[in-house]
Amino acid sequence: MDVFILKNEDECSEYAARMITDLVKSKPNAVLGLATGRTPIDTYARMVRIHNEEHVSFKDVKTFNLDEYYGIDESHPSSYHSFMQKHLFSKVDINQENVHVPSSKPQNVAEFCAWYENEIKKAGGIDIQLLGIGGNGHIGFNEPTSSLASRTRIKVLTEKTRTDNTFDFGTIEKVPMHAITMGIGTIMESRQIIIMAFGTKKADIVRQMIEGPVTALVPASVLQMHPSVKVIIDEDAASALERKEYYKWVFDNRPN
Ligand code: GLP
Repeated sequence: MDVFILKNEDECSEYAARMITDLVKSKPNAVLGLATGRTPIDTYARMVRIHNEEHVSFKDVKTFNLDEYYGIDESHPSSYHSFMQKHLFSKVDINQENVHVPSSKPQNVAEFCAWYENEIKKAGGIDIQLLGIGGNGHIGFNEPTSSLASRTRIKVLTEKTRTDNTFDFGTIEKVPMHAITMGIGTIMESRQIIIMAFGTKKADIVRQMIEGPVTALVPASVLQMHPSVKVIIDEDAASALERKEYYKWVFDNRPN
């Protein structure tokens, strides 16, 4: 894992946006794995800025989102379909046919999940996957004890996740109980991964992800097994790391 501790959220978001848009510059038909939540919002805003100012085109880019709530309308303001349109897709020149977000109401869940996996394969696999981390260590909606080899499927959301995501729905009762999410095995097949976290609220789970054992109890810890992960975090999210100074020293001496 490359652990990049940057000064603040702005620097982290700029770094991630640059990595993604640099990839799109060098590979205009790149396949992007995208995330929702508060963490990547500013990264998307910066990707939009780079698209406008530097004419980086998303015309041939394909995208696959990690997850979607199950059972709500895709037009619901808190659906991940709405989130992605609002923060990115409506603001760049992406072809809507190249956009994939898991369905919130598939007729047959198992068939849909197999189809989603196959679409990723047909696109040639994900070049770069952007991730946030849940307060309980989830990635996508792969809650603790998810199989580390799991594929796209429906999951029951934990009380902790539903509480954390209440702000989107008003009350916990309104937060869906289920979601369709790429599996951990699916995520691990991405060629590159960026995972971001900000703020002291994420400090302990970030420590467990980087310095704890690989365990299904902290799904993000499996990223220790991936050959190309960049953990991009601000000072606050890094505050519980035992080897913080070491990561900074490695960063300062990174090869060009
Ligand atoms: C959500 C999403 C995840 C996201 C995480 C963190 O529930 N399913 O993909 O990374 O929780 O969210 P936030 O960025 O708002 O902290």
